[in-house]
Amino acid sequence: MILVVAPVGSGLQGEITPPGDKSMSHRALIFSSLAAGRSELSGLLESEDTLATMKACEQLGAVVERRPQRIFVTGTGGSFSPPPGGLLDMGNSGTAMRLLAGVLSGQDFDCTLSGDASLNRRPMRRIVVPLTRMGADITASTTGTAPLLIRACHGLHGIDYVSPVASAQIKSCVLLAGLFASGSTRVQEPHLSRDHTERMLPIFGVELPAPCTVVGGSRLKASRFAVPADISSAVFALAAAAMTPGSEVKVRQVGLNPTRTGFLRCLEMMGAQFSITNHSSGTTEPVGDVSLVYSDCLRAIDVPESLVPDMIDELPLLMALAVTASGVTRIRGAAELRVKESDRIAVMANGLRKLGVELEEFPDGIDISGGRVSGGRVDSAGDHRCAMSFAVLGLVASDRVLIEEAQFIATSYPGFTSDMSRLGASMQMEGQR
Ligand code: S3P
Repeated sequence: MILVVAPVGSGLQGEITPPGDKSMSHRALIFSSLAAGRSELSGLLESEDTLATMKACEQLGAVVERRPQRIFVTGTGGSFSPPPGGLLDMGNSGTAMRLLAGVLSGQDFDCTLSGDASLNRRPMRRIVVPLTRMGADITASTTGTAPLLIRACHGLHGIDYVSPVASAQIKSCVLLAGLFASGSTRVQEPHLSRDHTERMLPIFGVELPAPCTVVGGSRLKASRFAVPADISSAVFALAAAAMTPGSEVKVRQVGLNPTRTGFLRCLEMMGAQFSITNHSSGTTEPVGDVSLVYSDCLRAIDVPESLVPDMIDELPLLMALAVTASGVTRIRGAAELRVKESDRIAVMANGLRKLGVELEEFPDGIDISGGRVSGGRVDSAGDHRCAMSFAVLGLVASDRVLIEEAQFIATSYPGFTSDMSRLGASMQMEGQR
């Protein structure tokens, strides 16, 4: 489908509550499915990615009851049952595949994990290596990608894993496998990646005896968990307001975990005017309302490499925002972007060039010169975050911007066009899926 974005005539105005956090929603579903008893989840994101996890959890034996505003999950007590045909389809979701691979490595049946064309191209050796070291029988394709065949477990042992990449998916995969291993399992990473697994396991009854360490045999207990709004979705409205004269928007009850707020820190460095109110620590995850008022002074920055893991999913949007800042914005140390739902550096570079933007691509980043944006047609390559980043930039283009393969926005933010329209944007999805 094609998303058609018209330039805005006046500033964006209003308040929205973005949908539930995707990372926490996957974890809430997986943890409650492993737990003994009936958990109550609220604020859960119901998008294509998290619905793939929900379906997989049901196929593995959890009972999910969907009620208005609430979801109840009756867990399996830690022993999943084999899914129909021994196959689970994780759709577009790397988090679903990598986290469930950790859990399934400790189960007593064979199972194959597969996904769509994008997911089946993404690197899986990064989890196959540590899981194999723990004693799992897991095989990827010859190119190190899914489908992943995980055979019945004959005993896992805990490891001390030093991950070469700051990745919450690798970390969580290994820690979840560690729950089914003998001894303890610890993960160290070059930079702290999002720490939702470490914060949420204790809510489901599993204490971590030391940072990023689990003790084998720990069992999860049913709990209540309220998922805050997703900062990774909220940033689209904030960035749109930061670049559109006359704007004033508020995003409500957004998760503000410091491992996720790198984009806000960059906004501050670029000179955007925003404030945080109603700050609370919620259910172990900090939450607040973020209000942003347009100010005519965005300036280019050198994105500190230390912030890259804290804004890894927001970098495509930062590239779009950089176009509206004066000077050259430099992003480096972001090679991981090349193995996301698409090669996000290449997809953004190609699209931005089509909109007349001057830029230079590097293996691990990009330099983007601020300037005028023309209308045109760009390919999102089926990547939800690239599609939404182009859409936001389209608001300040000189003519309409058409974004191809934009239906993938539904993997993380099904209400994106209606939320943006509520703020005053003109965005229309056209064509058949
Ligand atoms: C996620 C971790 C990140 C992020 C992804 C969600 C998670 O991936 O890009 O969208 O929920 O753990 P990596 O762990 O590969 O960096």
